[in-house]
Amino acid sequence: MSKERLLTGLQPSGALTIGNYIGGVKRLLKYQDEYDTFLFVPDMHAITVTQEPALLHKRIKELVAIYLAVGIDPKKVHLYIQSENLYHANLSWILECHSYFGEMSRMHQFKEKSKNHENFTCGLFTYPALMAADILLYDAKYVPTGADQKQHVELARNIADRFNSRYGKEYFVKPEPVIPEVGARIRDLQDPSKKMSKSTDNPKASVFMTDDEKSIRKKFASAVTDSDGKISFDEENKPGVSNLLTLYSVFTGLKIDEVVAKFQGSGYGDLKNEVANVVIDTMKPIQDKYKYYLESTEIDEALDEGREFTNKIAKEKYEIIRNVVGLGRN
Ligand code: TYM
Repeated sequence: MSKERLLTGLQPSGALTIGNYIGGVKRLLKYQDEYDTFLFVPDMHAITVTQEPALLHKRIKELVAIYLAVGIDPKKVHLYIQSENLYHANLSWILECHSYFGEMSRMHQFKEKSKNHENFTCGLFTYPALMAADILLYDAKYVPTGADQKQHVELARNIADRFNSRYGKEYFVKPEPVIPEVGARIRDLQDPSKKMSKSTDNPKASVFMTDDEKSIRKKFASAVTDSDGKISFDEENKPGVSNLLTLYSVFTGLKIDEVVAKFQGSGYGDLKNEVANVVIDTMKPIQDKYKYYLESTEIDEALDEGREFTNKIAKEKYEIIRNVVGLGRN
C-alpha cells in the first residue's frame, strides 16, 4: 500500500526559533519514515511583508541547510521551494475565488499582523488561500504545524469541502492539522502571553536554532517567570515556568509530570540552567552540520530533484482543477 501524504513548510522570514523546531521540523524526523513527506520553503508567503531581496535568497538557502542539518533525508522527503513551482500561485487564485472575504477576515494571524499597520499588503490578507493551495495541490492528508497554523489548515479543509461539494466529486483530499500535544505553542521568553516568534524586536525573547551557547544561556537566565517561587505546571497562572517545563519535556522526551517531579525543591535558576543545557546539547550537533550543509552541493541537488518531482504532481492536479472550474479550452 502506498504511504499517506504529509506536508509542511516553514517561512524563510528569519532564523528559525526553537518554537519552529518543535512545532515545525523535529517531528518530521519520525514522519519521514512513515509518510510520503513533502517539506517546502514557502518563500512566496515571506513576501507578504517587506523583505530585502538578497537577504531572502540567503535565508531560503539557510532554511534548507537547517532542514538537512536536523536530519531530514532528501532521499525520503520531497524538498522544494514554493516559488519554483508556478502551480501554487495558479491554484491559489482559483481557491481565492472559492473563499469568502468574511472567513479570511477571521484569521487570527491576519488580525495580529495587520493590527499595528495602516498599510498591509493584499497578500497578507489572502495568504491562507495560498497556504490552502500548498496543501491541496498534493492531496496532503496530514499537515503537522504548531497551534498558530491550525486555523489556516482548517480553512484549507473548509475550502476543499466546499469545492468538492460544488463540483460533485472529491477533487481535493481534506487535510488534517497535526498539532503536538506538548510544545504546540512555545512562548516568548520575555512576554509569555505571546508565542515565541522569528520576527521579534526584543533580542532576549526568542532562542534561535543558530544561537551560540553563550546567548542561549543568557536568554534563558533572563526568562520571565513569576514571584511564586514554586515549580508547577499551570499554563494560565504560571505561563513562564510552564513554558520552561514544556521545553525541558520536549527536549528530553520526559513527560511533563516527570519533569515537574524532577524539579521539585529546585529554584527557577536551576530550571533555567537545565533547560539551557538540554537546548544547547540538542542544537550543537545541528549547528555543526548546518555549517557543513551551507557549503555543500547537497542543497541544490535536493532542491532540483524536489522541483522536478513536485512540478509533475502539481501540474496534473492543477490541470484537473482548471478544467473542472471551466477555465481555458476543454
Ligand atoms: P511559520 O514559518 O510561521 O512557522 C513554521 C512552523 O513553526 C510553528 N511555530 C511554532 N510552534 C510552536 N511554538 C511556537 N512558538 C511556534 N511558532 C511557529 C508553526 O506553527 C509552523 O508549523 N504559514 C506557515 C507556513 C506555511 C505552511 C504551508 C505550513 C505555508 N504554507 C502549508 C504548512 C502547510 C507559517 O507561516 O509558518
